[in-house]
Amino acid sequence: MVLKGKKILIGISGSIAAYKMPLLVRLLMKEGAEVQIIMTPAARDFVTPLTLSTLSKRPVLTGPFNPVDGTWNSHVDMGNWADLMLVAPASATTLGKMANGIADNLLVTTYLAAVCPVFIAPAMDLDMFQHPSTRQNIKTLQSYGNHLIAPREGELASGLCGAGRLEEPEVILEILRDFFKGIQSWAGKKVLITAGPTVEPIDPVRYISNHSSGKMGYALAEEAIKRGADVTLVSGPVSLPAPSGVTLIKVHTAQQMLEACQKVFDASDLLIMAAAVADYRVAAVSDHKIKKQGGAGTPALDLVENPDIVKTLSAHRNDGQYIMGFALETDNELANAQSKLMSKGMDAIALNSLNEQGAGFGTDTNKVTLIHRSGISYTSGLEPKAGIAGRILDFIEETIVNP
Ligand code: CTP
Repeated sequence: MVLKGKKILIGISGSIAAYKMPLLVRLLMKEGAEVQIIMTPAARDFVTPLTLSTLSKRPVLTGPFNPVDGTWNSHVDMGNWADLMLVAPASATTLGKMANGIADNLLVTTYLAAVCPVFIAPAMDLDMFQHPSTRQNIKTLQSYGNHLIAPREGELASGLCGAGRLEEPEVILEILRDFFKGIQSWAGKKVLITAGPTVEPIDPVRYISNHSSGKMGYALAEEAIKRGADVTLVSGPVSLPAPSGVTLIKVHTAQQMLEACQKVFDASDLLIMAAAVADYRVAAVSDHKIKKQGGAGTPALDLVENPDIVKTLSAHRNDGQYIMGFALETDNELANAQSKLMSKGMDAIALNSLNEQGAGFGTDTNKVTLIHRSGISYTSGLEPKAGIAGRILDFIEETIVNP
């Protein structure tokens, strides 16, 4: 199920062939893809938004604003969200607008903002398809790196016969599947990722924890899924949705996180320890709420050290397993990260600096220095955590090949 969890943006423009799109949407949904549809105003004359929103289980977007509540349909957010954009059917007008940056509808603005691969499946009458302007626009779009799903020869709605028929939905599905198979560089890899904080109870209502939001670990899980890995995410309490396609194991304490990881680690090729594990827990958790002392002194909390999860796991690692940890430091950053890398038996460590604005806990962006035990290192720029996740996985790919 290579399309499982893939985010597909479909742009539908005005062509008779739009009638084939509900079938393609159905096929993609059956494969477990997430489908967001954008229609040009002209497309609505050929297929109804209601049919498409019912099949895709998402509202179909036709303009920059929702006419009912005025919310903005951000083309930039959609362009960043998608793993792939498919413009099908692409009419002669839409091809012309895309090739020339005429951004007068949501489909074209989103196309211009998209950072993902784009597939274009034209459909029009034979003579329109043969026209030099259409030919030139297609060539221009291909020169931008867009992929062409060439129309088929056959009987056209006009009664003429020739090239111009939208490729069949089953074939388009196959093309998209093959495309994702080709970029699934982590296919077959089992990846264990920890994320979020651990919370250590004091009594039934209080706990010790930290500010970890889990965003970095969840972004890593999402990126590993995109690359085709089989991902288990062991997560402390966070308020983030599970990336689709991951096996999520929810835990609270460091001890529970260790036990969950121990069950999965042996069969994993990679461990990425992004969780912010609490170093200490309360020695004796009170089974009732600790009451205020009313001036008769302050209660003492007896703490004991939690197990070091990554150290415990790395002590029993199998040949070929790769372990990456994180370090969040405020001073002596590089030296501390390097010493953690060695003392915890890791292959690589990602250093976050709390001194860096926009990096570290709770932020949507991050900046990391990645260090491999061989000495290879890389420092990223400040980027959204999704981008940083990509850099981290690229670094792992590079250092697995060049240990
Ligand atoms: N880690 C772990 N188990 C712990 C503590 C930390 O597996 N009990 C992991 C973290 O997930 C991270 C790495 O070890 O990948 C470094 O975590 P960090 O909190 O920076 O290191 P500590 O060993 O706790 O050192 P200190 O808090 O003293 O800086």
